Amino acid sequence: MANPSLLILPGDGIGPEVMAQVTRIIDWFGEKRDLAFDAEHDLVGGAAYDKHGTPLHDDTMARALEVDAVLLGAVGGPKYDDLDFSVKPERGLLRLRKEMDLFSNLRPAQCFDALADFSSLKKDIVAGLDIMIVRELTSGVYFGEPRGIFEEGNERVGINTQRYTESEIERVARSAFELARRRGNKVCSMEKANVMESGILWREVTQRVRDAEYPDVELSHMYADNGAMQLVRAPKQFDVIVTDNLFGDILSDCAAMLTGSLGMLPSASLGAPNADGRPKALYEPVHGSAPDIAGQGKANPIACILSFAMALRYSFDQGEEAARLEKAVEQALADGARTPDLMGPEGGTPITTEEMGNAILKALDASL
Ligand code: IPM
Ligand code: MG
Repeated sequence: MANPSLLILPGDGIGPEVMAQVTRIIDWFGEKRDLAFDAEHDLVGGAAYDKHGTPLHDDTMARALEVDAVLLGAVGGPKYDDLDFSVKPERGLLRLRKEMDLFSNLRPAQCFDALADFSSLKKDIVAGLDIMIVRELTSGVYFGEPRGIFEEGNERVGINTQRYTESEIERVARSAFELARRRGNKVCSMEKANVMESGILWREVTQRVRDAEYPDVELSHMYADNGAMQLVRAPKQFDVIVTDNLFGDILSDCAAMLTGSLGMLPSASLGAPNADGRPKALYEPVHGSAPDIAGQGKANPIACILSFAMALRYSFDQGEEAARLEKAVEQALADGARTPDLMGPEGGTPITTEEMGNAILKALDASL
């Protein structure tokens, strides 16, 4: 049988340097676990714009639709701030999400014991935290029409549209309930049903899906602003959170910081399963391109590495190997491996991106 295929899109800023560590880990699984991948590399974001004048070349888009999974680093940077909106680096990522129809974005926020002291919150509030945010990724205000900047009388008006169909809400709700069944069996749905009709529909449809198909799963509803407050007040009350594209963007950054560093958080963006049962999928760290530290060996590769662990689990049915990689990350942290973003109250000497890769590979070797 052919090896599973990967399209690797390192992108901009720290993307290439964190992805370089992921590539080493992929090679490790090929050599030591007989789990080889056929990986090809291509450009996305500003890097693609520099070469092709577009943040995602059509050929790259076509390959993304063909491979078994896409791994993405990060897109964007100040160099591209003045570009026309239609060719900004972020448009490349949004096109991938939309055309691959990756409607379910899984953003786990887990607090590693070794990092519980690093959170901006008190240790007992975050220690042992393990929540999963399921963000709708292909609709809502990110894509709704009409949108644009228009002339109106003697001034301009900026317009975006929050729009959700029942089937869009149903499918992301299902993916949240399915995940909950494999975890704590609890879903909290967040919207603004107090001020938005799309929120009223969201609440109604998630409840209907739960009652008809997942009566065993506990479902609660929360206004998203209260949700933000609860996330920093008592985050451990949550198991799975399901929410729309924009609220999910904001709430997941908030949840990420609970874990100590944005450099830790992976994500999986999944579509509907193909004929072979494998979903279309893209894996990327939640952090961005961090242009301020790019190219200096300061970036934490863990979020990108844990995104590959998610690929092992959700695309390749290799849950045990995913757990092996996650444990290796935990071990490296327990052994004191710290990139600069992980310099907690105890101080110490930070290591480089590559040294963090070394520490994780060492822990992987020790796991055999
Ligand atoms: C994210 C990012 C993206 C988003 C940007 C880079 C387009 O913030 O994945 O959370 O807003 O979705
Ligand atoms: Mg974001």
